[in-house]
Amino acid sequence: MTTTENISLKNYNTFGIEVSVSKMLVIQQEADVLDFISSKEKDSNFLILGGGSNLLFTQDVQGYVLKNEIKGVKLVSETKDDVYIKVGAGENWHKVVLHCVAMNWGGLENLSLIPGCVGAAPIQNIGAYGVELKDVFHELEAIHLETGEKKVFSLEECAFGYRDSVFKNALKGQYFITSVTFCLHKTPILSVSYGDIEKELKKLSHKEYSIKDVSNAVIAIRESKLPNPVEIGNAGSFFKNPTIPNKQFNRLRGEFPEMPFYPISASHTKIPAAWLIQQCGWKGKNLGNYGVHTKQALVLVNYGGASGKDIYQLSTDILASVKKQFGIELEREVNVV
Ligand code: FAD
Ligand code: EPU
Repeated sequence: MTTTENISLKNYNTFGIEVSVSKMLVIQQEADVLDFISSKEKDSNFLILGGGSNLLFTQDVQGYVLKNEIKGVKLVSETKDDVYIKVGAGENWHKVVLHCVAMNWGGLENLSLIPGCVGAAPIQNIGAYGVELKDVFHELEAIHLETGEKKVFSLEECAFGYRDSVFKNALKGQYFITSVTFCLHKTPILSVSYGDIEKELKKLSHKEYSIKDVSNAVIAIRESKLPNPVEIGNAGSFFKNPTIPNKQFNRLRGEFPEMPFYPISASHTKIPAAWLIQQCGWKGKNLGNYGVHTKQALVLVNYGGASGKDIYQLSTDILASVKKQFGIELEREVNVV
């Protein structure tokens, strides 16, 4: 375990917010987590950091940052149809996706190009283009940050939901995830019905699509819509897409017949938050060095030098105007520190 003192976190969060922390511990193995637990003072503050792509820093971090760098990708078992791979929580998500695509192990291809580390993926059950982490999840290992006890969490125990898990609720801040095991398919089943994937695939000269084709299609769509954090600071969707009762939906639909929607159950409908935010006039709003992305109203951006407090205030103003115009309360997806 290496320790660095008094460092800037600007290059450790994709918003590019300038804050600092007095101690950063680089965690390279499980033993480093246990060393931290035995050496830390009781009740000391800490923040586990992966790629910093789902965080908004509004102040300096008190205490420690535990930077997760636990590496390794291991094939642990296989059956006639499936492979089980165990991945160190500090591995880069997209690199792992590309590795699985190259091996023709199906399941992760729709989740191409999501920034961050493998260990953070279960925290909000990452999802994109019709697939969520839970669809390929087998189990994860984590260490309890008070007792040092190691625990294996099954799919059921993680209580995954839309951008949600037990680690954002009952067990928030209690565990350090050290590895995730995925179950992938030797004979891939392609999932191409979501969004523009099929349209993108039709540009190809062949008709028998591979998971590499799907991965490339997802990458192309994402690159056309979402800002690259290397160029413009952002943390992806800032808010979740709200789910509303059908009674409220039907009333709004009468008033806004053009409103896009996705029925999700007999009683509830999901509305794209980007549409609601755009209708309130926020899309492309430029407030100097920060604002709302020009191509995606759900993405707040730092053009350089903005503070986390500015961006947080912008998110509060957006919440208030969506509530006023539509009576819908948006929820932040990004973790505010
Ligand atoms: P961090 O931001 O470092 O951490 C996020 C949270 O998880 C923090 O609370 C942190 O303390 C906790 N945490 C991190 N690692 C661990 C660990 N090992 N153990 C316990 N707690 C931990 N998300 C989607 O779901 N779908 C998308 O399509 C998507 N697109 C994005 C596009 C862009 C351009 C960007 C910038 C972000 C996008 N995101 C998306 C959000 C983000 O990439 C994911 O949430 C990702 O999983 C965050 O990983 P991270 O390593 O950067 O986590
Ligand atoms: N739309 C607008 N204005 C915009 C953008 C979109 O009105 O500026 C409307 C359009 O009608 C569009 C709909 O919103 O059809 C949905 O837009 P998009 O397909 O871009 O998806 P999204 O709902 O904005 C969600 C996830 C993304 C994920 C994509 C693809 C959430 C909060 N966001 O975005 O995840 O990549 O779908 O599956 O669920 C993230 O979580 O950080 C993230 C980027």
